[in-house]
Formats: sequence, structure tokens, C-alpha cells
Amino acid sequence: MKYVFILCLLIVAAAGGLMGAAVVVRWNDNMTQTPRIVPGERVFRMPAGVVPRGGDLIIPREQRDVATKAPNPVKMSDASVAIGREHFTTFCAPCHGAEGKGGVTGPVATKFIPPPDLTNPELQKQRTDGYWHSYIVVGGAVMPAYGEALSSQEAWHIVNFLRALAKK
Ligand code: HEC
Repeated sequence: MKYVFILCLLIVAAAGGLMGAAVVVRWNDNMTQTPRIVPGERVFRMPAGVVPRGGDLIIPREQRDVATKAPNPVKMSDASVAIGREHFTTFCAPCHGAEGKGGVTGPVATKFIPPPDLTNPELQKQRTDGYWHSYIVVGGAVMPAYGEALSSQEAWHIVNFLRALAKK
């Protein structure tokens, strides 16, 4: 009889211990410790075989050659350049410098890889609007993607702004 009593005690203690452990694990495993996606960290690719409903089609980085051929739907105008400048100042100037001169003209560039001079006439001639648009939306070799922060339309305005830089 004594042994049955001790066995019962042990079973109750074990069950209590297990429930306590479950509470501790759930307590520790809260939202700050689970994996999470930070805004702007990456652009999600559409699953194969789906069709977008609204929004813009995002051409993945691997298909830059396709994106390169996309025509610029936003006409070059002072208004477009002004919008482009505003977004460039917010998102791009920290690395590329306020006038897109690259090197270490942007404060972040001194701690990061110095970006190229975007006003360089050779580079301007070599790149299509679509290529640069793709660079902004899905990112470059090391440059981050801005497809989540900027709409496709806003990216085209920035491209117009970059073109206007070269004309000066
Ligand atoms: C974190 C720093 C950083 C930010 C922010 C950044 N870039 Fe860049 N960008 C780079 C670097 C570094 C390169 C060169 C290396 C590479 O191609 O990834 C580059 C390359 C480029 C190129 C050159 C592509 C070519 O023709 O070779 C363009 C255009 C460009 N960036 C535009 C932008 C625009 C527009 C924005 C804002 C939406 C922006 N970048 C934001 C770092 C940055």
C-alpha cells in the first residue's frame, strides 16, 4: 500500500513538472524570439503558376534581361523628376549621395561599399530605364531591394530623376 501511495505521488509530481515546463517553453518562445521578416528585407517572388490581381508584376532579379527591355511608362517631366528627387533623397541619398555622385558622398557609403557615380555619361548610355527600374525594385549585387518601400510607379519617377541628373 505504501508503494502505491509513493507511485501516485511520483506520477502527480511528473505531470506537474511537465506542465510547468510547457509554460516555461511557451513563455520564452514569444514573438521577439521567433524568426520574422523585417519590412524591406526581401521581396517575395510569386509562386509559380499564379496570376497577379492588381498590383504590379515583379520580375525577379534572375530575369534582369527581361526587365531591361521594359519601356518607361512615366513621361519625363519636371513634375516626375521632382517626385523622383523626393524619393531619392529618402531612400537612396544615404548611399548614393544627394546628387547621385556615388563614391563616399553618401554618409552610409563610408561604412558600406562605395556605389558608382550614377551621373556618369558612359553608365547612363549603357543602362536602359528598365534596367535601373529593376535595380530599384529587386536590388542589385549588394544593393538592397526597394520593391516593398516604393511602388513601381515611384521607381520610374526615380529613374527619370537619375536621367535628369546626367543632363545637367
Ligand atoms: C545601402 C546602400 C544603398 C542604397 C540605400 C541604395 N543603393 Fe544603389 N547601389 C549601392 C551599391 C553599393 C551599388 C553598386 C553595387 C551593386 O550593383 O549592387 C549600387 C548600384 C546602383 C545603381 C547602378 C546600377 C548599374 O547601372 O550598374 C543604381 C542605378 C542604383 N544603385 C540606384 C539606387 C536607387 C535609385 C536607390 C534608392 C531607391 C538606391 N540605389 C539605394 C548601394 C545602395
